[in-house]
Order: sequence, then C-alpha cells, then structure tokens
Amino acid sequence: MYSIIFFLILTTNGFIFSDKENIILVPSAAFRNHLNVVSTDWLLYNQGWYYEEDSIQAVIMEKSLEKIIKKDLDINRIKLFTAHGKEKKNVCIDGLNRSMCTSTDDEGRIKNTFQITNNEMNRFVRTDINTAKVLYQISVPNKNIRTTGEIYLCDDNGITFISDIDDTIKITGVTSSTDTLINTFSGDFKSVSGMSDIYQYWQKKYNATFAYLTASPDQLYPFLREFLDRENFPSGSSHMRHFTWFDENFISFFMSNNYIKSKTETIQMFIDNTFNRTFILLGDIFQKDPDIYASIYMKYPNRIGKIFVRKYNNDTSGLQRLQQVFQDIPQRKWSTFESGSDLPKDIFLV
Ligand SMILES: *[C@@H]1O[C@H](CO)[C@@H](O)[C@H](O)[C@H]1NC(C)=O
Ligand SMILES: *[C@@H]1O[C@H](CO)[C@@H](O)[C@H](O)[C@H]1NC(C)=O
Ligand SMILES: *[C@@H]1O[C@H](CO)[C@@H](O)[C@H](O)[C@H]1NC(C)=O
Ligand SMILES: *[C@@H]1O[C@H](CO)[C@@H](O)[C@H](O)[C@H]1NC(C)=O
Repeated sequence: MYSIIFFLILTTNGFIFSDKENIILVPSAAFRNHLNVVSTDWLLYNQGWYYEEDSIQAVIMEKSLEKIIKKDLDINRIKLFTAHGKEKKNVCIDGLNRSMCTSTDDEGRIKNTFQITNNEMNRFVRTDINTAKVLYQISVPNKNIRTTGEIYLCDDNGITFISDIDDTIKITGVTSSTDTLINTFSGDFKSVSGMSDIYQYWQKKYNATFAYLTASPDQLYPFLREFLDRENFPSGSSHMRHFTWFDENFISFFMSNNYIKSKTETIQMFIDNTFNRTFILLGDIFQKDPDIYASIYMKYPNRIGKIFVRKYNNDTSGLQRLQQVFQDIPQRKWSTFESGSDLPKDIFLV
C-alpha cells in the first residue's frame, strides 16, 4: 500500500515531498468608515487563506472521487481541498503606505479590517474606467511567500450588482451531486450564455461595481478567477465559504444549505456600510437565492433595485414557487431569466 502511494506521489509531482505552502487572497471590499459620522476615511476588509498542500491526501482523494464520478479529475483543484490551513501563524500585510503583522486563525484564515484616511486612499487607489481598487501584499516572515490581493471600493452612492456564481453565471448543475462534482473538479468551467455580455454592458451603463457571492468554498477561488477572467466577467470582490474536514462530509458540503446565513450577512454588510447605494441581486432558483433575496428585500426595500432569478423558461412549477416566495414584493421588482439575452438592458424601466 505504502509503495503504491509513494509511486503515485512520484508520478503526480515528479518529485517527493514537494508539499508547498502558499496564500490565496480573495478580492474584498472597502467602505466609508461610518463608525465616526463625519469621517471620510475608509474601512478595508481583506480575506485569505494560508495553507500547506498534502500530496498524499490529494492523490488518495482524487482516486476515490474518480471512482464515484467516473471521470478524470483535475488534481490541482483537489489539492486545495486536502491542504491544511496554517493555523496561528504570523503574516504581514504591506502596501498601502503601512505595514502590520497579524496572525492566521485556527483554520489558517486571514481576516482583517483596517482603516486608511481618504487622502491615503486617493494616493493608492487605481481607477480604471469603471472600477476603483487598491492592491496590497501579504507575506510570511522568513519564507519566500508573497501574494497580492485586491480590495474594491464601494462608496456610499452608486450601484452594485451582487451576483451568485453557480447556475447563475456558471453551469454547475447544483441539483445533482454527481453533476456538481463533475463540473467542479473536471473540465473547464462553462458560462451561462450571454451573462458576461450583459454584465459588462451594465457595468459601463451604470458605472456599477460587482460582487460575486457564492456558496463555493474559497479553495476553488483560483479556478473561479480563471473562469471569470477567461469569460470577461467584470472584476469585483468575491465572497465565499471555507471548507474544513472538521465540520462536514465533502459531498454534503456542496449540497447543503448552510450558506444561507453567510450569504445574507454578506449582503447586509454591503447595505449597512453604504448610505445610499442601490443593489441589484442576481441568483438562481436551484438553491436558496430567492428566499435569501426576498428576506433581504423585505428588510431593505429602498436599497434593492431589482432581483433577477435564473430558471428554465419551461419550469412552470418553479415560477409558482417564486410567486409564493416573492408574494410581498412588487412584481416590477423581480423577474426571471434563462440566459443573458433574457435580461433587460435598462433595469429601471418598469
Ligand atoms: C506614508 O507616506 C507619507 C508620505 O509619503 C510618509 O510621510 C509616511 O511616513 C508614510 N507612512 C508609513 C507608515 O509608511
Ligand atoms: C465610476 O465609479 C468609480 C468607482 O467605482 C468612480 O471612481 C468614478 O468616479 C465613477 N465615475 C462616474 C462618472 O461617476
Ligand atoms: C441617493 O441615490 C439616488 C440615486 O440612486 C440619488 O438620486 C440621490 O440624490 C442620492 N441621495 C443622496 C443623499 O446622496
Ligand atoms: C427545460 O429546459 C431545459 C433547458 O432549456 C432542458 O434542459 C430541460 O430538458 C427542459 N425540461 C423539460 C421538461 O422540457
């Protein structure tokens, strides 16, 4: 048994004991600091994960998943799931005209909030046609590890599109665990047709910012980023879960509904940190997006410009379910779509 595993490591990596440490930084958001009412300072959030790969576990998991789904899997996507978080380790944040060190939590996650003045922000912000962001670096003392992260500015006024990923812009097949595993661990991620075109159109028309809100774990972030860039989706922050072997079985993690709380909290973070921003919410009928979006709407009716839910045009019982879920919401505030070409160019036309 041991020699088989040994052989697999050799063939997978080309050499032994190559377990690599690295940091993933997931793009996050910055808001005006409203703790002090007169301040124009900014609060910046960052989020990431410091991990060490485990090649033996990765190969074992690849082989067992391949037995279940009977397809060749991408070992690189599995590696991050079998990696171990580097808990309680020192990491240092620099860039942004300051340097500070902090510790990872007991899952190896990096999560901080820091404040900079509006003057400093003006010095560091990089403004593109439609996006404003700052870059920062995280490094590990005495190790050759250094990753650059992005923080997207979300000011008090304007429009933000908050979009789900799986089965809203990316074909995942969340209603079947086999399809989910196949579409997550093998082949290229595929886009729902027309979605990046309409997102880009909206980005320019409304000078909008984008936030991707997903139940997918941050272990998939590098591959989702490759997908978003390849398909030309507007860049923006991403808000993801984190998978650990302690809390769940791997397959049930992908099928569970325990993302409802974290998705709700993320949308609330955006709304509570901006005085007068309008939010457009996009999701799909296959999981709990309609329920999450309906309860957010009921709480902040003036802040939600519109809700779009992806469903198949032929799914009439789905439409009935939506009419039920959205029964207290004006009809002009929500609609459905199957592909990007069903979405309106002008969102605020009744
Ligand atoms: C930030 O930049 C200013 C001016 O460039 C400089 O005087 C100050 O020392 C810097 N602060 C830090 C913490 O690097
Ligand atoms: C568009 O939004 C960016 C920030 O996302 C901002 O810096 C810029 O001033 C805005 N442009 C207009 C014309 O409002
Ligand atoms: C709030 O936003 C709306 C447009 O979304 C704008 O017409 C209005 O002037 C803004 N109010 C303030 C106080 O900035
Ligand atoms: C409904 O439409 C989807 C995609 O457009 C298709 O895959 C599915 O087979 C259709 N279902 C029925 C019952 O026609």
